[in-house]
Parts: sequence; C-alpha cells; structure tokens
Amino acid sequence: MREADGSVAGKSPARLRLTERAHAVVLPVLGPGGVAIDATVGAGRDTEFLAASGARVFGYDVQEEALSQARRRLAAAGLEESVTLIHAGHEDLERHLPAKLLGRVSAAMFNLGYLPGGDKSLVTVPGTTVRALTAASVWLKSGGVISVVAYRGHRGGADEYLAVRHLLDGWRTQGFSVRVEEGLVSTSPVLIAAKKA
Ligand SMILES: C[S@@+](CC[C@H](N)C(=O)[O-])C[C@H]1O[C@@H](n2cnc3c(N)ncnc32)[C@H](O)[C@@H]1O
Repeated sequence: MREADGSVAGKSPARLRLTERAHAVVLPVLGPGGVAIDATVGAGRDTEFLAASGARVFGYDVQEEALSQARRRLAAAGLEESVTLIHAGHEDLERHLPAKLLGRVSAAMFNLGYLPGGDKSLVTVPGTTVRALTAASVWLKSGGVISVVAYRGHRGGADEYLAVRHLLDGWRTQGFSVRVEEGLVSTSPVLIAAKKA
C-alpha cells in the first residue's frame, strides 16, 4: 500500500529500495487520464505500478520472455487493458506512440540493466539508452517526470550510468530539475529523477 508521501506499506521514504523510490518520485504526476512510458518492462513490476495508478501505459522491451512475464503479471492484476506492450527497443520509442500524445506524457521510467534470471546479453547500453531518454524528454508534458535507475555493478553499467548522468545533467540548463540519489559505494545503483518545467 502506497501512502500520499510516497512511503510504501508503512516504510518511511528513507528506507525504501531504489526501485520503490523511483515509484515514489513518479507517483505524484500519475493518475487517471495520464499517459506513462515504461521504457524497460522486464518482469513488469514498474508497468503494473504505472497502470495501477490509472494511467494508460506504453511498455517496451527487446525480450519476448520479459514481455510474457509482464503480460501474466498484468493479467493477474486485471490491468492488461490499460497497457500496450511493445516488443521493440526503447530507442524506437516514438515510432510506437500515437502522435496525439506528443507533449502529453506524464512519466517515463527507465530501470536499466538486464532482466534478473533472463538473457543477460539483452542489457541496456549507453547509445540506445541516451537516444530513448532524449526522445522521452520531448514527449514529456510540462511537469512530467523521467526516472532512471542505473546499475553500476555489471560490466558496462558504470559507463551507461556516466552517459545518462552526462545527458541529464545537461538538461538542467533546459528547464529540467534533476535530482540524484546515489549510494556511498561506487558500485551501488543510482536513481536519477528529472522533472520538466
Ligand atoms: C532491470 S530489467 C527491467 C525491470 C522491470 N522494469 C521490472 O519492473 O521488472 C531491464 C530490462 O531492459 C530490457 N532491455 C534491454 N535493452 C533494451 C532496449 N534497448 N529497449 C527496451 N528494453 C531493453 C531487458 O530485456 C530487461 O528486461
């Protein structure tokens, strides 16, 4: 159960896992009639969270196994009707979004890396992640939020984090407020949240 202040099941925001913190930062901009993007569907936890808020969700993944898991999760929650699952890379984000949604997306979530228990070769990489984030920033509405959870512990993860960080730091001069939550250990995951003015 999520509370109005972003806490989950009685946990204070400070004690939430980073993926739960990502939910807490996008939650305030979600709601019925909203539109959300899950750029990395994986097992569908973030997709389910976005759909449960009442938003219409467009979810991308390159891995059919991930989409099957997500489909089962959404069906079990009775949320499949409000989600469009797209078997494609997020770098092709705009190709699959209805043109009328340009500038009307409330939130886009990027939970980077690979699917635990899935094909680890199907991992997000800097070039396509940066392309997808750039596209998402254009489709985002004023006041909308992009969240990124970046993992630095796997091969290539630290470079991807640096590429994302460089891109989003640059958004500060383009009217975004950008917040970074980083653990003390250099290999721990990082949450970056960017809100469009
Ligand atoms: C950490 S998992 C996502 C977890 C997920 N959000 C959840 O809630 O369960 C990362 C996912 O990104 C997917 N992925 C890798 N490259 C991608 C790309 N270019 N476009 C979209 N998804 C990609 C992987 O297949 C994997 O399922």
